[in-house]
Amino acid sequence: MSAAFPGQVQSKEEIRLALRSWPEVDDYLQICKGVILPLGSTEQHGPTGAIGTDALTAEAVALEVGCRTGVLVAPVQSFGMAEHHLGFAGTMSLQPATLLGVMHDLVLSLARHGFERVFVINGHGGNIATSKAAFAQAHASAASRGLPVAPKLRCRLANWFMAGPVMRQARDLYGNKEGHHATPSEIAVTLAMEPSLQSKQRDLPDPAPAGPIHSPEDFRRRHPDGRMGSHPSLATAQHGTSLLETAASALSEDLRRFLSEP
Ligand code: NI
Repeated sequence: MSAAFPGQVQSKEEIRLALRSWPEVDDYLQICKGVILPLGSTEQHGPTGAIGTDALTAEAVALEVGCRTGVLVAPVQSFGMAEHHLGFAGTMSLQPATLLGVMHDLVLSLARHGFERVFVINGHGGNIATSKAAFAQAHASAASRGLPVAPKLRCRLANWFMAGPVMRQARDLYGNKEGHHATPSEIAVTLAMEPSLQSKQRDLPDPAPAGPIHSPEDFRRRHPDGRMGSHPSLATAQHGTSLLETAASALSEDLRRFLSEP
């Protein structure tokens, strides 16, 4: 197996950190200081969507971006901050402080080995505030611990579903039926990744509109079936393949810029 090399198209096997040996990672660090960390969530996605939607989509986009850029992809962090979804069976959440600690520790681990650019591909809006706080904490810790990489350490949060071209495509496909949670665009990507999920798809009544987010009980009262203004029954695997392509293309460009920034 050849070492992953930035700028060259690689196979999914080649760019998965989990399938590399430590000497291979050492060799990789001689030529590239970047790494992709997919971040998802394990939470309800409406009555027909998979609990793992945000982790599945983040990892799928990350692997596509890794293949196109040759940048190593760490295993997906499948648990995120999903406190408001705990009113629905199957949701597994990290409290904000826990997720902050997890992301901080993962960034610090990578920085210790000399990774200077940590590109987090995120699939869940509830992770955004905490991830940014974790990056700030990681910078402070890298400096206070005297890590040689500290002055060059950069972290970027890339929310694939908020990339401009992805949002435009979702609007073109679904208009105002995209909604805010259990969206047809994210469900479409899961259908492209996991054909077995197609069997859950069915027509649904109009969803509750998006609203403020408070406690899990309040969320369930406002959004009885878990959806926020979304019509996931519009999703198809073909849409998902196309959206994945759009997201990978946009985020690959973003990653290349990130790697070349001073
Ligand atoms: Ni989601």
